[in-house]
Amino acid sequence: MQPVANKAQEKLGPVETAVSTEPKWREDGSTMKALAWFGPTDVRVIESRIPDITDPDDVILKVTGSTICGSDLHLYHGEILALQKGDILGHEFMGIVDRIGPNVKNLKIGQRVVSSFQIGCGTCEYCKKKLSSFCDRTNNSSLQNYMYGSRDAGFFGYSHFTGGFPGGQAEYVRVPFAEYNLLPIPEGLTDEQVLFLSDVLPTSYHNVVDTGVKEGDVVAIWGLGPIGQCVARWAKLKGASRVIGIDKYPDRLEFAQKKSGVEPINFKEYKDVPKRIHELVSGGVDVSLDCGTFHEPKTWLHKIQKGLMLETDTPETVNEMLLATRKRGRCGIVAVYAGFVNGFNLGALMEKGIAFIGNGQAPTKLYWDELLNDYIIPGKFDPTFMISHRVPLDDMAKLYEAFDKRDSGVLKVFVETKFSSPSSPGCPTISRVDDWKSD
Ligand SMILES: NC(=O)c1ccc[n+]([C@@H]2O[C@H](COP(=O)([O-])OP(=O)(O)OC[C@H]3O[C@@H](n4cnc5c(N)ncnc54)[C@H](O)[C@@H]3O)[C@@H](O)[C@H]2O)c1
Ligand SMILES: [Zn+2]
Ligand SMILES: [Zn+2]
Repeated sequence: MQPVANKAQEKLGPVETAVSTEPKWREDGSTMKALAWFGPTDVRVIESRIPDITDPDDVILKVTGSTICGSDLHLYHGEILALQKGDILGHEFMGIVDRIGPNVKNLKIGQRVVSSFQIGCGTCEYCKKKLSSFCDRTNNSSLQNYMYGSRDAGFFGYSHFTGGFPGGQAEYVRVPFAEYNLLPIPEGLTDEQVLFLSDVLPTSYHNVVDTGVKEGDVVAIWGLGPIGQCVARWAKLKGASRVIGIDKYPDRLEFAQKKSGVEPINFKEYKDVPKRIHELVSGGVDVSLDCGTFHEPKTWLHKIQKGLMLETDTPETVNEMLLATRKRGRCGIVAVYAGFVNGFNLGALMEKGIAFIGNGQAPTKLYWDELLNDYIIPGKFDPTFMISHRVPLDDMAKLYEAFDKRDSGVLKVFVETKFSSPSSPGCPTISRVDDWKSD
């Protein structure tokens, strides 16, 4: 798949953007550790050159906190187009300003910041409305333009389908348009409290707000990874009367039940999920939210179709959502999909009058101030509840494998670099992935 996509991109030629995509490197040739992609399930910690200021709006960050996201698993499995060998991954990270371009006025060297997972230009019509993930000027992928009719913003560490920018599973990273894409962090908050402002917090919040969860709603969530766990909490904070969570991992189901009062459905036990939901909620739920993943088809039919490249993604979750939702209800998709599915139940969508919402990649910029000032600082939402482990960047390749297999109850991981502060009280201390299994 990758060679074909890369060939197509080459043929189409890049779209012009407002940002240089060929990074400059430190002239002294010094190197850093970084996690790079080499092929499906083949990622490695390598020595890579340290980036330098390339455009005047850039900042170079020393990374003090990084992590792995469910979206990285799509890359790990080679299911996102236009990956190239040696691409540095990672889109959820924070750091300290190390070098600063002449146009960046709101930051100074040594400042602690969280980075957005997407790169907004700050000036296009979307960026002006804080819809940073929809920026028109930072992604040079003509392939995405061809497939979708327009492009997302560029993303850090997420293949050449989203601009080919090196990511933050590294000791240093270049952040373009740094004034717009970095959030200064006030004193008094720990790194563990703020790291996930980079992605998981705005994403989960966006899923709930954008799909219009309101007082009294009965909400069902497909997928109880970090996103689904946070979505459950946001739904309750927005007044949901009941939250049902669907997954197959008993530890994730139990965690959601104990920590957030979610009613669990194990889809290994209840093969017909919509039927089970109708047993629990007469007429169906008001809102269904997709926080799962397209790379794990449930049925042989879709395993085969995907295997034969007859479809890139699978419609199974969205079809379950359509059956489980009441007439005139809402379905929101924040889980990542890449392309095409076979057998989508369009009839159910139309006949039931369901509002079916693609939430898109979450615009971090739209929610940052609200999440920080209204929820994290007053303690209404404590993001540290989901941190299950802390590991060094050296273990990043092993972490991909363990996170993919959901070993040892892994949920969300704080990945430290040589620049990180010690772990904060109440949060996991450093561990090695090799030791997890014996935990
Ligand atoms: N739109 C955005 O801005 C954005 C940002 C971050 C993550 N995401 C996406 O959100 C999704 C969740 O992310 P995460 O970090 O929580 O991922 P994760 O991989 O840790 O968790 C996904 C969970 O979904 C469950 N699942 C898989 N198939 C299912 C099915 N058919 N029914 C019910 N549950 C199923 C898995 O067992 C797993 O527990 C991913 O698709 C990720 O790519 C989107
Ligand atoms: Zn992510
Ligand atoms: Zn823009």
